[in-house]
Amino acid sequence: MNKSKKIRVAVNGYGVIGKRVVDAVSLQPDMELIGVSDIGSDYRVQTAVSLEIPVFAPSPENASEMSSAGIPITGSLNDLLSQTDIIADCTPKGIVAKNLSLYQEAGVKVVYQGGKNTH
Ligand SMILES: NC(=O)c1ccc[n+]([C@@H]2O[C@H](COP(=O)([O-])OP(=O)(O)OC[C@H]3O[C@@H](n4cnc5c(N)ncnc54)[C@H](O)[C@@H]3O)[C@@H](O)[C@H]2O)c1
Repeated sequence: MNKSKKIRVAVNGYGVIGKRVVDAVSLQPDMELIGVSDIGSDYRVQTAVSLEIPVFAPSPENASEMSSAGIPITGSLNDLLSQTDIIADCTPKGIVAKNLSLYQEAGVKVVYQGGKNTH
């Protein structure tokens, strides 16, 4: 399959659920993982780095903290949204509601995993 025809997928929140979604996406021949967004710098995000998954940060403050902790930051969540067709939101409860408008403004389809509570 032509790589450019693959569905571009991003994952927001690389935790217990997010890392499994990333693993599943990576196994699909018709999908291409663009990157993950997170706010953490612990073993979870370190694992993404070790797997050479591009890491994005929702805010400049998050990016600064993560960079200070040694996480290479590829760009912002908006940058990630500009490169993807669909995002799987695996962030904790309450965060999804804040992210929904970002996804809508970017015209990116979203799949909610785990946290939900969009209202
Ligand atoms: N793990 C389960 O079995 C399970 C089952 C049902 C529901 N849930 C719910 O699903 C949600 C996610 O669960 P989990 O187990 O993957 O949690 P987790 O804590 O393992 O992962 C959440 C990830 O989201 C990141 N994050 C937090 N705020 C963020 C933000 N603003 N932007 C981007 N990333 C952010 C965290 O740093 C973390 O890496 C939770 O609300 C949980 O209650 C989990």
